[in-house]
Amino acid sequence: MNSKWDDLRALHAATAQRRITDLFDEDRERATDFSAVFEDMRLDYSKTNIDQTTRAALIALCDQSDLAGRREAMFRGAPVNETEGRPALHTALRNIDGGPVLVDGADVMPKVLDTLGRMRRFSDAVRSGVLSGPGGEFRDIVNIGIGGSDLGPRMAVRALSPYHDGPRCHFVSNVDGADIADTLRDLDPRRTLFIVSSKSFTTIETMTNARTALAWTEQGGGDVARQFAAVSTAPERTAAFGIEPEHVFGFANWVGGRYSVWGPVGLSVMLAIGPDAFAAFLRGGQAMDRHFRAAPWAQNLPALLALVGLWHHQICGHGTRAVLPYDQRLGRLPAYLQQLEMESNGKSVTMGGRPLTLASGPVVWGESGTNGQHAFYQLIHQGTAVVPCEFLLAAQGHDVALAHHHHLLVANCLAQSAALMRGRSLDEARALLRETGLTGDDLERQARHRVFPGNRPSVTVAYPQLTPFVLGQIIALYEHRVFVEGVILGINSFDQWGVELGKRLAKALQPVIEGREDPATADGSTAALVQFVHRHGG
Ligand code: F6P
Repeated sequence: MNSKWDDLRALHAATAQRRITDLFDEDRERATDFSAVFEDMRLDYSKTNIDQTTRAALIALCDQSDLAGRREAMFRGAPVNETEGRPALHTALRNIDGGPVLVDGADVMPKVLDTLGRMRRFSDAVRSGVLSGPGGEFRDIVNIGIGGSDLGPRMAVRALSPYHDGPRCHFVSNVDGADIADTLRDLDPRRTLFIVSSKSFTTIETMTNARTALAWTEQGGGDVARQFAAVSTAPERTAAFGIEPEHVFGFANWVGGRYSVWGPVGLSVMLAIGPDAFAAFLRGGQAMDRHFRAAPWAQNLPALLALVGLWHHQICGHGTRAVLPYDQRLGRLPAYLQQLEMESNGKSVTMGGRPLTLASGPVVWGESGTNGQHAFYQLIHQGTAVVPCEFLLAAQGHDVALAHHHHLLVANCLAQSAALMRGRSLDEARALLRETGLTGDDLERQARHRVFPGNRPSVTVAYPQLTPFVLGQIIALYEHRVFVEGVILGINSFDQWGVELGKRLAKALQPVIEGREDPATADGSTAALVQFVHRHGG
């Protein structure tokens, strides 16, 4: 089983000192040979230390793990989420003009399309003012949810702001009262629509915020029946909460929270940009699904992105990966990917319940360019840890009058990946300093601070413009990348047992914090911190 990994480790050992720039010298076509194109999207992984042999060895991992079989099992609705005994069929939510998708012999598409139709009618009613609050047309929408019920729509609404022609959208997620207090401060309780979004409809943060929103609406003279909608897989709980059934948008439990933006969890996105633009978003995801299913691994964008990731983390041992969108409106993409990737692949047990012998998924982090350049790029360029970088770049922005900004943005993005690869030698640093008149020991000492080791790998995902369709492609690209990594590592990317323990302990600690119970069973540190909170006003 591990022989392909051994091959890769041997290849790494043999090539670790090689310069990426030498690979370009050896192969004038490298930029083309080590890029893959799907529609107008280009994945360039030529600025990595991967050569033809390494790529072949990486692709062999796909066959070794029966990736093609697992991929079809996922798309066909088999229970690939084995620890929860269900399929992972988020792809069905964007299968808008595809064929039937069977789960236990029944086609799920009629229900999916029916819900999409209900979302469309609801959005049209809100956006046209047919459905309004007692104070008039809805001016603001507040999505209350957390994790997958927040990060996807929050990221997408921001990403698609040039298409935003519906009511303003706000997102409340944190149980910290500061979140909802700051959000509601300037809103009108008679013209605000709340979407309570929770797959389980039990999540403590969401339920607490929803009850606060309910009280705020009632106290402000609003009409809860008109001003609350719910998104959930648990209609009995939305009914118990008091949300009108016609404002409830359900989905099946085979959609994982972090994969759910394509369905009712994306309602705020649809309200913001309209049903047609939302359909374009779905079509982008569907197009990537078709590509993922059909393209050979060597041209398959999600597979290649995953293989490059496995090479950098599991083989080269780089512990983190930076996601760097040179697209301001993708500013929430790193946060979105943190859940998608780290909740999916942060596991240490294989599907069969045995300890994982490889490293699990890496820490994913990042910030939009060029802001990151003025914060942490110092470490990326000159720190001792190598951080593989993933740049995202639009060929054009939306702000036509500001094209000169975009040119600068592109120049910065391309300069950073080039600088990471090329670096600056000691001799080059000396030459630069000589020009300033520095000589002797001073020059020698100063030059060392100006050396860049280079040879730092990056990939670039380039696309024409951040349209709804392209955003759909990007999100589906990352979803499938996570799936490929999970299959090759032999783990279940669709469960999240690692979030359970903290939730349990928080529940047990709540009466302690409220002073109703003794912290007797808490560990010494926790008990002391409880005392501190009590002493200082908690
Ligand atoms: O805490 C983890 C989690 O279960 C995520 O997987 C999920 O996206 C989030 O909580 C919110 O869950 P829900 O949509 O059920 O409120």
